Amino acid sequence: MVSFLSWVACFCFCLCVCFLSVSANQLPRFEHQVNADGSLSFLVVGDWGRRGRFNQSQVAFQMGKTGEDLNIDFVVSTGDNFYDDGLRSTYDPFFEDSFTKIYTANSLQKQWYSVLGNHDYRGDVEAQLSPMLRLMDPRWLCLRSFIVNTETADLFFVDTTPFVDKYFLKPKKHNYDWRGVIPRNNYLTNLLKDLESALMSSVATWKIVIGHHAIRSIGHHGDTKELIHHILPILEANNVDVYINGHDHCLQHISSSTSPIQFLTSGGGSKAWRGAIDDDKNTKNDSKFYYDGQGFMSVELKQADANIIFYDVFGKVLHTLNLSKQLRSPMYDSFATYIK
Ligand SMILES: *[C@@H]1O[C@H](CO)[C@@H](O)[C@H](O)[C@H]1NC(C)=O
Ligand SMILES: *[C@@H]1O[C@H](CO)[C@@H](O)[C@H](O)[C@H]1NC(C)=O
Ligand SMILES: *[C@@H]1O[C@H](CO)[C@@H](O)[C@H](O)[C@H]1NC(C)=O
Repeated sequence: MVSFLSWVACFCFCLCVCFLSVSANQLPRFEHQVNADGSLSFLVVGDWGRRGRFNQSQVAFQMGKTGEDLNIDFVVSTGDNFYDDGLRSTYDPFFEDSFTKIYTANSLQKQWYSVLGNHDYRGDVEAQLSPMLRLMDPRWLCLRSFIVNTETADLFFVDTTPFVDKYFLKPKKHNYDWRGVIPRNNYLTNLLKDLESALMSSVATWKIVIGHHAIRSIGHHGDTKELIHHILPILEANNVDVYINGHDHCLQHISSSTSPIQFLTSGGGSKAWRGAIDDDKNTKNDSKFYYDGQGFMSVELKQADANIIFYDVFGKVLHTLNLSKQLRSPMYDSFATYIK
């Protein structure tokens, strides 16, 4: 009898464990504690690592000032962290020269959450993902795809480079380090499944998705058709408020009548002034703001309001975007309104 009961207990336990491991999300999750009132603020910079050149140091300096004014909780990097070809190894001095020695302000000594860009895949991709870098600079956290949960917002970081067909074409223009990505179809299928289930189970007031490539852009690279096809429908079906990317070396805001999502580019961390603006895109009509030069972005979130600001290299405010949440019941059935 005793052994039967313990067998039943064991069976139930195993069932629970199996259930948990099946239902548990595959994407790594991090809890980020924020202020007692639930407010949250962070900076976003993209396309930056160039040993301080091309105004990287000036952007870093202004980020430090704004970071102090806003008392930020963390920093987000939208990828292309190290130019031109990522890091060569975990011992590559480029890491310290382009990150540790550049973002030196007190206010920037916070956690950095980073995704990979296409240029990062041109080096030893696993170097940037390695915990070794965290020993050198504990601020650094770069993973392919992951989630940051806070009281006010859930942030979903998505590895967008493997979606883009042209990086897989032969003959190759550049060498990409696809370890961990191939077979590509499996990688993309799993990622989409994990992203969708993570978004579906999120009960945060604000849902923000971050990737390197733009879904929509009027900059040099324009829209990313693979993301419009694979990612956008999942974001729209799950009440995502904001999608933030880099890749185009500019700052921009796109808002359209056909999608409830605000599309923001913060890719002005160093080299910019490409002189490109895609006039022919349908997107042009939806562009609320476009700046071809260097800068960064701040995001301040409260339960019902978001205040997003773009700054240039002098810290001048270029564009502000306020979102307001109409809280319905239940909370996760809420939507954001862009106040023009
Ligand atoms: C640095 O920023 C200033 C001000 O926007 C700009 O005039 C200058 O061209 C930038 N330098 C580079 C190398 O982009
Ligand atoms: C451009 O946007 C405006 C306002 O959002 C809209 O009324 C107009 O129909 C749009 N035009 C085109 C060609 O899409
Ligand atoms: C956004 O809100 C801030 C205050 O939170 C205000 O100073 C700013 O003018 C607003 N911007 C817009 C475009 O409404």
